Amino acid sequence: MSNETIKMTSGEYVPIEMHKVRVVQKLNLLPIEQRLKAMEDAGFNTFLLQNRDVFMDMLTDSGTNAMSDQQIASMMVADDAYAGSESFNRLQEVVEEVLGTEYFLPAHQGRAAEHIISQVFVKKGDIVPMNFHFTTTKAHIELAGGKVAELFTDDALEIKSDKPFKGNMDIGKLKDLIKTHGKEHIPYIRMEAGTNLIGGQPFSVENMRAVRKVADENGIMIVLDISLVCENMYFIKMREPEFMDKSPAEILRTLCDLSDVIYFSARKISCSRGGGIATKNKELYLKMRDMIPLFEGFLTYGGISVREIESMAVGMREAVDWNVIRHSPEFIKYLVDSLDKKGIPVITPAGGLGCHLDARGFLPHLSSFDYPAGALAAALYIVSGVRGMERGTISMDRDEQGNDVPSEVELLRLAFPRRVFTLSQVKYAEDRIEWLWKNRELIGGLRFTEEPKVLRFFVGRLEASSDWPQKLLAKFREDFGDSL
Ligand code: F0G
Repeated sequence: MSNETIKMTSGEYVPIEMHKVRVVQKLNLLPIEQRLKAMEDAGFNTFLLQNRDVFMDMLTDSGTNAMSDQQIASMMVADDAYAGSESFNRLQEVVEEVLGTEYFLPAHQGRAAEHIISQVFVKKGDIVPMNFHFTTTKAHIELAGGKVAELFTDDALEIKSDKPFKGNMDIGKLKDLIKTHGKEHIPYIRMEAGTNLIGGQPFSVENMRAVRKVADENGIMIVLDISLVCENMYFIKMREPEFMDKSPAEILRTLCDLSDVIYFSARKISCSRGGGIATKNKELYLKMRDMIPLFEGFLTYGGISVREIESMAVGMREAVDWNVIRHSPEFIKYLVDSLDKKGIPVITPAGGLGCHLDARGFLPHLSSFDYPAGALAAALYIVSGVRGMERGTISMDRDEQGNDVPSEVELLRLAFPRRVFTLSQVKYAEDRIEWLWKNRELIGGLRFTEEPKVLRFFVGRLEASSDWPQKLLAKFREDFGDSL
């Protein structure tokens, strides 16, 4: 097992695919005029683009990871039954083997698990401390009448950093919060592996142990979100001396053993679909169990097709395979380091999940109310056909008074679905980002034309606040001639 990418004769390290491509999907790269039209039709929201108009879909890694041949093969032997399916038994066995948890509840995806956990444990007036929120997590906790407290460390939001574990929870802040609010108002502490919204940044086992200690002292349980744990394990192995010689399976078990309830989006962790909740604690299991038939489906399918349950079982085992785990972080590092060297503002150190462009640094002439991350997402699609995701002020809903809430960070996330893109595609994305950086003063703001109240980033529609997209197109044609 090697911890390094492959060293070339020149001394350069290059990320190498430890798999071969046996099934491919055709891609379209539309001319820029058609891309601008597609962006306008999508209300300047990359969620509303049609996939046929997208060249590199870097919106998310959710449900878009490449599956292995073993996963596809397993889908052929699925056992269709409403109750007592063999497919479910196989999944349950793997979950127990990999996470070390005896009890497992299937849920149709990660947010369904969040719905159940928050409905069962969160009461009106409660507060849930976490290292950082995720959009659906926060929405579900608030729906249950609770509030979220983000207890990230002071350096977590630094864009340029060499901190190895920006996803850590600040233990001092956790102790203060418990003192101020009282442990009886804290149903659980949530730790999110591979902290999504601050750039796929990891927490350390050392930090998780410290959280456990505080939790034990106060009789509070820990809920661990392992949707992005593969990349978190990669960084623990690479950066935490105690774990350098441990296998990913051992690292995952260490994290799970420090938690009371574990949940995941299978769309991420196991390159399949679905989700689930796992625990060693029978009492906690029984509290959540009755919600599954009510909201998801019977206990042995939970709203997931049996074929997906089979692929989930295989994918969970592959989630502790070092060659599977290392792929994304190494490709992400390649892009992040290349952009960073050119002075392009990007979150460092490179995390898991994707490359995160800092839209505030990229577009300093825009304010949060111009939605810089959304504008950068639109501009990048127009000049390249690369679809990223806004993770900034648009992703924050308005406050109770109807005011925009400026996001702490304005990011354009370029997700790396696992084992999907080749290095030449990554180099193409890098080239177009560099061109955009050189022409950044052409990019203007966005404004809403249709704005939903909850999770507005999904289906809200916007428009450019000037004719900047047309100017960007004209400059592209001037520089690239008739190139796509
Ligand atoms: N937790 C984390 C850390 C996530 O990143 C996600 C989803 C969820 C929970 C919810 O899971 O989508 O299966 O319902 N993240 C996706 C993304 C949507 O694009 O980052 P889900």
